[in-house]
Amino acid sequence: MTSVLFVCLGNICRSPMAAAVAQDMSRQSGLDWTVDSAGTGDWHRGQGADPRACAAALSVGHSLDAHRARQVQIEDFYRFDWILAMDRDNLAVLRSLAPSDGRANVGLLLDVAGMEAVVDVPDPYFGDDDGFAKVLDLLSEAVGKLAGKLR
Ligand code: 4NP
Repeated sequence: MTSVLFVCLGNICRSPMAAAVAQDMSRQSGLDWTVDSAGTGDWHRGQGADPRACAAALSVGHSLDAHRARQVQIEDFYRFDWILAMDRDNLAVLRSLAPSDGRANVGLLLDVAGMEAVVDVPDPYFGDDDGFAKVLDLLSEAVGKLAGKLR
């Protein structure tokens, strides 16, 4: 079974949405992967997902109700096969944390998924509600492609 950790900055917007899409895809298609999410920052530790992310996800059938934010831990680099960052800033943080004997492949979600044209998943936190729907669309496409690659 492949394990994937999705990582953003606050772990209340992008990575919980990515993990929920991946989790539901797994449930529906019998895909053999386990998923989780975390943030490089710790400001929101223990909090639920941003209400705008919850609303956008729920509107296309994904619940973020069970999500609680957490920060990336060093042990994640030994537990997960893939640790996928939403953008290059978070990738740089992950690379600086990664122990040399960790087993995780660390990369950018959109790159590993084989998405062309876009490199970073934009951070919707400081934007309007519309940004969340757009990011969710992008994540849904990327996670679908990722599933095809890791299957
Ligand atoms: P995320 O979005 O990284 O997609 O969860 C953010 C959430 C919170 C903050 C920044 C980005 N913040 O600065 O608190």
